[in-house]
Amino acid sequence: MIAPDVVLAPDVAIHQPELVNLYGCTIGKATRIGPFVEIQRGARIGAYCKISSHTFICSGVEIEDGVFVGHGVMFINDLYPQALNQDDSLQTEADWKVIPTRVRKRASIGSNATILAGVTIGEGCLVGAGAVVSKDVPDYAIVAGVPAKIIGDVRRAQGKNPATREGG
Ligand SMILES: CC(C)(COP(=O)(O)OP(=O)(O)OC[C@H]1O[C@@H](n2cnc3c(N)ncnc32)[C@H](O)[C@@H]1OP(=O)(O)O)[C@@H](O)C(=O)NCCC(=O)NCCS
Repeated sequence: MIAPDVVLAPDVAIHQPELVNLYGCTIGKATRIGPFVEIQRGARIGAYCKISSHTFICSGVEIEDGVFVGHGVMFINDLYPQALNQDDSLQTEADWKVIPTRVRKRASIGSNATILAGVTIGEGCLVGAGAVVSKDVPDYAIVAGVPAKIIGDVRRAQGKNPATREGG
């Protein structure tokens, strides 16, 4: 379902609109969104991004242009979630505060990564598959593991990528 309040820029590609759940969010020009993706109210996705299947992007997340988000990436906006208040009443949106998260332009996030609330994922960086990102990621860093640690630099690893390898 794509709710009527979703703002879609031109050329956004959602090939299976019946298999996504988008509401109250903004999607930039020519961004591609795979099946079983949920994007919540207030989330902002930039232009020319790729959001792969089974990813959850919650309220408070801002993703800049040209970002790759792998399969099953989970964003988080509440570090101490609770179903009930102290008086046993059900929690509502008024009972907790969204912690914002930002992904800078041209970053890539590997499949099954978890991005904890309040971090900034740096420009052009690469988050390894399965990482749990609990701190800010510097621009162009490669991070991996639980919790994610810096293991390299995208600029020095360019030769490993067949798409950028000379003669590749
Ligand atoms: C992190 C990644 C970019 C590799 O970076 P790299 O700098 O080339 O690292 P290397 O492959 O040389 O590995 C370096 C070390 O990190 C480890 N490592 C690599 N990827 C890892 C990951 N995702 N999580 C934990 N450790 C990882 C390696 O085992 C190696 O450990 P060692 O030094 O103890 O032997 C890559 O493994 C990855 O996870 N890419 C994301 C892929 C993805 O999710 N794509 C989505 C679309 S399909």
